[in-house]
Amino acid sequence: MDRIVDLVRKKRDAEELTLEEIERLINGYARGEIQDYQMAAFLMAGACNDFSEAEAASLTTAMLRCGQPLDLSGINKPKVDTHSTGGVGDKVGIIAAPIAAAAGLAVPVIAEPGFGHVGGTLDKLQSIPSFRTDLTRDEFMEIVAAHGLAFASQSNELAPADKKLYSLRDATATVDSPALIAASVMSKKMAEGLDALVLDVKVGRGSLLKSKTESRRLAQLMITIGRRMNLRIQALLTDMDQPLGYTVGNALEIMEASQTLQGQGPQDLAGLAVEVAARMIYLAKNDVSLETARSTAQGLLDDGSAFAVLQNVIRAQGGNADALTQFELLPNATGEHIITSPREGYISRINADDIGRAAVLLGSGRERMGDNIDPAVGIILQAKVGDAVAAGAGLCALYYTDEAQLTEAVQLVEDAFRLSSNQPEPRDLVVDLVQ
Ligand code: URA
Repeated sequence: MDRIVDLVRKKRDAEELTLEEIERLINGYARGEIQDYQMAAFLMAGACNDFSEAEAASLTTAMLRCGQPLDLSGINKPKVDTHSTGGVGDKVGIIAAPIAAAAGLAVPVIAEPGFGHVGGTLDKLQSIPSFRTDLTRDEFMEIVAAHGLAFASQSNELAPADKKLYSLRDATATVDSPALIAASVMSKKMAEGLDALVLDVKVGRGSLLKSKTESRRLAQLMITIGRRMNLRIQALLTDMDQPLGYTVGNALEIMEASQTLQGQGPQDLAGLAVEVAARMIYLAKNDVSLETARSTAQGLLDDGSAFAVLQNVIRAQGGNADALTQFELLPNATGEHIITSPREGYISRINADDIGRAAVLLGSGRERMGDNIDPAVGIILQAKVGDAVAAGAGLCALYYTDEAQLTEAVQLVEDAFRLSSNQPEPRDLVVDLVQ
């Protein structure tokens, strides 16, 4: 049998590793038998030489098998989830998941923390007072069975190698390898025991992968992996050049998700959430047309059924559901800084990457894995791309509790906005469908 160093060498020399070899690496690393330095070398060799489709699938299988996937066979409903590769102001999953649950599906969400400039569903939900995500397997299954939806954090049993590998990738500049992202995402999603999955792969300035070609490749890779595992799967490529909706920051995004579920959300956010939910219904039910699924999803949003699901789930997980209507119960920042327009014009760009990084400087996200975050802080946009603004009109407000990095954050936000004298052409939020 090859030594670990021989497997690292093989990847360094751009040779393809077998499933068995990849399982040795992943299991050995998860059990602490392989050191960080050898795994880091392997990851870097793969990130530079690229992994084949078969290797990406093997990585997924190995990461899935080294944990204990959920068994939801006792819940007699199709199981479905959505996954976003992460954006700025992206609270789509918190709206789409209750819509899908209200449509009679089971949505077992293993939610993730944010990383870098990209927010995470877990951090957003944890800004709700007393909300618990450290559910036992039994609690998780009971809540899914009762309400069609539960949100848990990743445990040491579900795809445990991913947690350890992700920290190492974060520290070794190997996060943005499409194959490593695909294996990381798909191993966690497959551990949920799903029948169907809708991916929302972001493209544009605020997305994880900056080029559209790479984002499309990532979508295709995840679809190939999902199909090999008998999952019904589709990916939307959606625009992340400017933030989604108006809020960026954990409690602020819960507020906007809640407003959207009560019929008062911004059109871009509500439209995308309904589209994602419709595709969840369409793929999971397998016997409805996409048009029917769209009108079902819209109806469940409009009549308050989806909001009721979210309220019930928040209560079932110990959270104060009143915070979904009385926003003063959410964590509140102490300081506000308004940024105004230097002149009259149309907003032609709001760089989502800059806004996301500014929000991290305020404390809403992590520079490094394990950093603490402040749930109260963030940014509320007061205008979006295409809007006309007068000189001196508000462009956005920064909410902070600590002034240490405020000046730097303000600079980034000011740089994020571009004005032009002509109104830019409206752009579609859904750029493409990969299936
Ligand atoms: N999200 C994940 O879950 N994993 C990655 O590697 C990147 C984004």
